[in-house]
Amino acid sequence: MIYVGNDIVKVSRIHDLITKYKNRALSHIFTSVEVEYCESKIHPEIHYSGRFAAKEAIKKAILSYNPKLNMPLANIEIEPVKDSAPKVNLLMEDNNIAYLNVSISHTDEYATAVAILELK
Ligand SMILES: CC(C)(COP(=O)(O)OP(=O)(O)OC[C@H]1O[C@@H](n2cnc3c(N)ncnc32)[C@H](O)[C@@H]1OP(=O)(O)O)[C@@H](O)C(=O)NCCC(=O)NCCS
Repeated sequence: MIYVGNDIVKVSRIHDLITKYKNRALSHIFTSVEVEYCESKIHPEIHYSGRFAAKEAIKKAILSYNPKLNMPLANIEIEPVKDSAPKVNLLMEDNNIAYLNVSISHTDEYATAVAILELK
């Protein structure tokens, strides 16, 4: 079976979140790999927003096949890959997943993501 998830995020909302809660928000939502990547950018909030949308899209795809699963956003890592789509690292075991991919897009105002998940 194949499952899909998507999400759209307002960049200003994520900007407010990371400004207001800074380290607490960052460590609850993002991994150190993600923080390092986003903070290396001129507008970190845009890249945090893309990753936030990606995590929510992945969560929706996973919840579509397993509605009871508890999945903190920090357990979904979006690892940048140069000149390629980012790699998804699930930081918790799920032996049912054969393939999980995400595509991110962003403007100055919004970030969106689509996730595709295939079960074994
Ligand atoms: C990949 C490409 C289509 C992205 O389009 P874009 O409109 O600039 O960017 P979007 O806002 O839609 O998407 C950005 C996200 O796409 C993802 N991405 C980046 N490169 C990608 C690639 N080669 N394949 C798939 N996804 C990619 C990343 O997650 C990125 O988010 P990030 O900036 O937070 O890491 C565009 O950069 C491209 O055509 N690249 C290939 C050619 C190239 O490298 N040109 C630059 C030198 S001339």
